[in-house]
Amino acid sequence: MKITILGAAGGIGQALSLLLKLQLPRGSKLSLYDVSSFTPGIAVDLSHIPTSVEINGFSEQNAALALKDADIVCVSAGFARKPGMTRSDLFELNASIICELIEQVAITSPQALIAIITNPVNTTVPIAAEILKKAKVYNKNKLFGVTTLDIIRANTFVASLINRAPEDLNIPVIGGHSGSTILPLLSHIKGEAQLNKTQIHHITADIQTAGTKVLEAKSGGGSATLSMAYAAARFCLSLVHALQGKNNIIEYAYVEGHGEYARFFSQPLLLGQNGITTYLPIGAISEFEMYMLANMLDQLKNDIILGEEFVK
Ligand SMILES: NC(=O)c1ccc[n+]([C@@H]2O[C@H](COP(=O)([O-])OP(=O)(O)OC[C@H]3O[C@@H](n4cnc5c(N)ncnc54)[C@H](O)[C@@H]3O)[C@@H](O)[C@H]2O)c1
Repeated sequence: MKITILGAAGGIGQALSLLLKLQLPRGSKLSLYDVSSFTPGIAVDLSHIPTSVEINGFSEQNAALALKDADIVCVSAGFARKPGMTRSDLFELNASIICELIEQVAITSPQALIAIITNPVNTTVPIAAEILKKAKVYNKNKLFGVTTLDIIRANTFVASLINRAPEDLNIPVIGGHSGSTILPLLSHIKGEAQLNKTQIHHITADIQTAGTKVLEAKSGGGSATLSMAYAAARFCLSLVHALQGKNNIIEYAYVEGHGEYARFFSQPLLLGQNGITTYLPIGAISEFEMYMLANMLDQLKNDIILGEEFVK
């Protein structure tokens, strides 16, 4: 099993590389790529950790070498938000980086599962889909926008509110990955801990603005990197387990589903050896969630069109 990280020298990329070096199954290969010239050095550094995961680093013009025979490609290359910026402001900066990298993936490792972390995810995933389509290698069951960070935040925030262990919660978050398009399904919390209306409104807003809180707290030092790397590692390991043939691997991600709400939408997915095997339904939702869902769709669809039109 070979996993390639594009953007491996960044805040997310380095932490993700460390987590995967520690957690990938024995015999896996981890390949790091970034335009930064010190990327091979990051691989040398990590190679001294005694796990049976072979690690190599590539930089500058060597993306193809990093991508050769990759089974999974994680993309965190691109600019992160600075205080005062929305994720949409990153479009101008990151759209062409995604195009360039996915064009290379289409040539070198078209069979790989692709997990996009780079923001704005609502738009970078449609861009990647259109690039893969142009190259005639698009398989919608293999392209994912990583929204796991919203889920781990929901688990953490709700756990502290209802006095439960965050490890015991698995709160679904659907829609997209920015502002009002992030919709936690708090009505799905199991057990007796039902939240009241005020708590639901507050926690929903907290989850939607959590990324901005990190930005402000880091005051110019970047956006969420360590929690994001944890989230990306969890998602990537689920892909690894699915490729290995393990059963019942379910994750939420932003994918091209059946288009019930928008062409791309974050929903539960059953994963298998060829990527997504079943697009699972979001299940029953509360009146408040129905209202929030209806209200986000214009924004989400506009974000998607922006990506589609960028490639045309
Ligand atoms: N999906 C999510 O939930 C989520 C959460 C947090 C951050 N993000 C996004 O992830 C991205 C990375 O964030 P970060 O904090 O790691 O940023 P960073 O600036 O620390 O790292 C980005 C890295 O990308 C590299 N890069 C730039 N252009 C490249 C190219 N053409 N090819 C290869 N590498 C290239 C840079 O050299 C840098 O090392 C941002 O777009 C950020 O908004 C997503």
